Amino acid sequence: MRKAVVTGGKRLHGKVAISGSKNAALPILAATILMHGETTITNVPNLLDIITMIRVLRALGLRAEYFEPDTVKVYSNGNVKHVAPYELVTKMRASFFVIGPILARMGLAKVPLPGGCNIGSRPVDLHIKGLEALGAHVSMEHGFVIVKANKLRGAKIYLDFPSVGATETIMMAATLSEGETIIENAAQEPEIADVAAFLNRGGAKIEGAGKETIRISGVGRLNGNIEYRVMPDRIEACTLMIAGAITKGDIALEGIVEAHIEPVIRKLQDAGVEVIVSGSQVKVKVKDGIKATDVKTMPYPGFPTDAQPQFTSLVSLADGTSVVTETVFENRFMHVHELKRMGADIHIEGQSAIIKGVKKLSGCPVRASDLRAGAALVLAGLAADGETLIDDVERFIERGYENFIGKINSLGGDFREINGNHNQ
Ligand code: UD1
Repeated sequence: MRKAVVTGGKRLHGKVAISGSKNAALPILAATILMHGETTITNVPNLLDIITMIRVLRALGLRAEYFEPDTVKVYSNGNVKHVAPYELVTKMRASFFVIGPILARMGLAKVPLPGGCNIGSRPVDLHIKGLEALGAHVSMEHGFVIVKANKLRGAKIYLDFPSVGATETIMMAATLSEGETIIENAAQEPEIADVAAFLNRGGAKIEGAGKETIRISGVGRLNGNIEYRVMPDRIEACTLMIAGAITKGDIALEGIVEAHIEPVIRKLQDAGVEVIVSGSQVKVKVKDGIKATDVKTMPYPGFPTDAQPQFTSLVSLADGTSVVTETVFENRFMHVHELKRMGADIHIEGQSAIIKGVKKLSGCPVRASDLRAGAALVLAGLAADGETLIDDVERFIERGYENFIGKINSLGGDFREINGNHNQ
């Protein structure tokens, strides 16, 4: 378990480039299962989660390889194995997303439930319901979800909640179904549009991805001999924007798409942060202090739940009281306890965190509970007095942020791995 230490008090300044999107690259890699031929995907971030997905593809019998700095090639011809490996799927929830493509390609898929949830309950019930609507027979055996269908047929599917993963699972499976599929109340996150653009490049017929209603006309086969560039990581961009703000810095991020990060830009502006976008660059600058700002997470185009913990860190140093409300995930306030140990004044009421801004945070050893909580604690550490020690940076930072330590340091922050492993 590698640890890292953040020494606070440095104002971030300078410029860094945003990496490719993890949350688009993962389903795009899963979607290569649908293709015939050699698919080249570029702007893929070099992350542990990506390596895990490559290992899943290999376990399914595909040839998949990462080429530095940002390219993955997947060769898929002939058959794909229908059983996804337990050790990998339980390690990363996103690897469950292979279920739709394997089913569509092979007529049978056996994929372990991620984590310890039961079928019919959260968090994969919407994926399953969608596949059932396309004609799959679903059963559970020894912790595996088994889906079978001689032929998937297009259907009209209304999602009770606009789940990102379920939208992707259904969209991927429907590309090779017979007839037309309509997904209503689909997730509208930009990553959905990116996955659809990738599939369409290979010959799929998907319209409306990124909007509330997606129409997919099934095709017989997808041609994988394509090259596709993954969209920029909007959550990395939002995290670094907030890092600039919390350190009262002056930074520029290259390679953003303004529309993708607009909900966070607006809230940063409400908080008194100067944010200027020109083309694919965003500049973030703080002259005065941070003003208290309320935020409510919502599915896209609302404020992203994946930027909520980082924003909570920011407003814990604001002038006044902010209310941060989480509506997408229950129990996504695990970082709050750690922020309180750093001196933040926060109490939780139901789905909301009531945050009374404090003048300063003080560094201490902290424990992250998930990736975005880890990022939130690093950001708090950058603004805190003294040193903040973060455990298990592999699991909580590097799993989802490409070269995060290097990027923070190149902006003038002081973030070091300890135990002799320095990554500048
Ligand atoms: C994706 C992102 C994740 C982000 C989330 C919401 C990837 C790899 N991960 O996760 O970073 O935080 O979108 O923007 O893209 N739910 C159900 N049943 C289901 C599926 C989901 O009840 O079958 C619930 C979940 O428990 C959660 C909510 O729906 O409360 C949103 O989940 P979902 O949009 O599916 O998130 P993921 O696709 O898992």
